[in-house]
Amino acid sequence: MSERTNASFDWDSFNIDLYYKQYQDQVLPDDRILSRALIGALLESEIPLRSLKTGIDACNGGLPIGPSLIAPFIADTGKLYWSEYGKPQVSHAAKIIKMGREGNLGKFSAHQTHMAQCHPAWADAGFRACTLGEAVQQSVFDLPADTYDIGITCFGPESLTGDYEEWRLAVETFLRSVHKGGPAAMLYTENSNGYLAGMSYPAVSVDQAQILEAVQPELKQIHAGRIDPSHTARVDGDPHSYTGMGYVIGLKR
Ligand SMILES: C[S@@+](CC[C@H](N)C(=O)[O-])C[C@H]1O[C@@H](n2cnc3c(N)ncnc32)[C@H](O)[C@@H]1O
Repeated sequence: MSERTNASFDWDSFNIDLYYKQYQDQVLPDDRILSRALIGALLESEIPLRSLKTGIDACNGGLPIGPSLIAPFIADTGKLYWSEYGKPQVSHAAKIIKMGREGNLGKFSAHQTHMAQCHPAWADAGFRACTLGEAVQQSVFDLPADTYDIGITCFGPESLTGDYEEWRLAVETFLRSVHKGGPAAMLYTENSNGYLAGMSYPAVSVDQAQILEAVQPELKQIHAGRIDPSHTARVDGDPHSYTGMGYVIGLKR
């Protein structure tokens, strides 16, 4: 095992302000391409909108983006879990949920505006993610199997450990938390060297072939895509960098 395991990092010291400033304060070209592609792939799954009872965004980071991407599929009476391990991230999720219920997504309204431009069903996705949302402190490794109707994780499993086997386990526990036949989606950074959130956090360097190999035992009807983010937050020569971003989505076997 690598010494850069999940347990060797203090996720409660994760500096969300710095993390958001660096990676999430604006809608970058990568975000535009990935969310549009993912929304298209989710629609192709032909799951009726507003039909599902439960959804989860694992490794949420306190952000409305993952929950917003799947919110249009959750029924008005359903629940959308903003699931995260680090305490400041969970508190931030609870704060955004409260703000969103009051009609204010703060700096994340730019992401809402972009999603609304992708498809009319996403016109209120951020607000819906808050109305149906609940922030929960939960490790991805402890997710219960066969529990949610739809799942997403954005930059989760590959960005919480430097250990390849542990990454595989995080992918597996995330995918296995979704009911058979339910859609499960992952956004990931490709060949990442880690990232900054007050201190240097780990990542496992994986490419699209490794992602596909990891998800194939758990998913069928897979759609996958990748982008080369040549004009984005990625800075050439930055040791905390990556070579691209990708998405994968499929139905749980
Ligand atoms: C790169 S950030 C991604 C955050 C957000 N989903 C995004 O799209 O920006 C990785 C997140 O994984 C969380 N994390 C670390 N270990 C975890 C674990 N064992 N279970 C769940 N989340 C974890 C971190 O606290 C951090 O918020």
